[in-house]
Amino acid sequence: MPLTDLSWHRLFLISRPALRFRTCARRLRVVAKYVFGHSDAEHRRLEFQAQLVAPITRQLLVDAGIQEGMHVLDIGTGRGDVALIAADIVGDTGSVVGIDSAPTAITVARERGAASSHRNVWFEEGDPATFEPVSPLDAVIGRYVLQFLADSASVLRRLSRLLRPGGALAFHEIDWTWHRSHPPVPIWDRCCTLVTEMLAFGDADIASGSRIPLIFAEAGLPAPSIAMTTIVGGGANSHDVVERMANLVLSLLPKMQDRGLVAPDEFDPETLVQQIADEVAASASFVAAGSEVTAYTRLPDHAAETS
Ligand SMILES: C[S@@+](CC[C@H](N)C(=O)[O-])C[C@H]1O[C@@H](n2cnc3c(N)ncnc32)[C@H](O)[C@@H]1O
Repeated sequence: MPLTDLSWHRLFLISRPALRFRTCARRLRVVAKYVFGHSDAEHRRLEFQAQLVAPITRQLLVDAGIQEGMHVLDIGTGRGDVALIAADIVGDTGSVVGIDSAPTAITVARERGAASSHRNVWFEEGDPATFEPVSPLDAVIGRYVLQFLADSASVLRRLSRLLRPGGALAFHEIDWTWHRSHPPVPIWDRCCTLVTEMLAFGDADIASGSRIPLIFAEAGLPAPSIAMTTIVGGGANSHDVVERMANLVLSLLPKMQDRGLVAPDEFDPETLVQQIADEVAASASFVAAGSEVTAYTRLPDHAAETS
């Protein structure tokens, strides 16, 4: 029976008491300025990106100590990719709930959860600023979501109170401040500038990766273990970063046009990937867009301290 089926979902919750969560009665906060929205182009972008960065996210979760039997909350779950990685790690004796403020995203995530082999993961419309699990969590995780929260430190402070002692917080963010091409590739630099302008217009924090230590400190959390990986391209061997960049531009293109940032004919959606790839290859350039910053911390474990 599909995971999206409400009656099955309730049955699942009743039969697995440790997994019970309740959606907060308060109406969910509407994220009016979430700049990417949830168009088909955006879902295709997330799908491609998820495959590209999955090994980085998985390594973060393992390093953070997430393991079999744990109960995990994934905030800003989108299509559910991070929740599904976590579900794979925690196994049948654990559980994962993915929340997102966008009903469209939750519909897609539920379909994907139902189509997967995992029966320990489900998805709820929800805002991390108000969501309340019924029982304590072992970990709160998220990818590319802190950058969109109006006050990420207060959200993390609140979420940390939902964790059991020794519980983990693990976040994978992006940092746009080191994007570059060398020798310069005008279309690459133009795309990076446009994307960062649109993100900033949407009140997203384009340096959220670098700000994680500060966000954790403001949330009253222990300093994180932090790492950074940049997915780069080199000349003709740049396909993944080029496709990721083109997907970003194409997802944001209607909004860029609405704001008059690009002329209607500046980018041809049909040929953009090839155009960028050709120009990077022609100048044998090094290209980098955002950097992947991963960080985790754990709450003090009082039981371990007193034993
Ligand atoms: C860039 S997507 C990342 C999705 C997913 N974590 C991934 O890595 O593929 C950001 C997601 O955060 C969600 N989001 C943004 N602000 C939010 C908020 N205040 N509460 C809950 N979800 C939020 C968006 O709806 C979107 O699905």
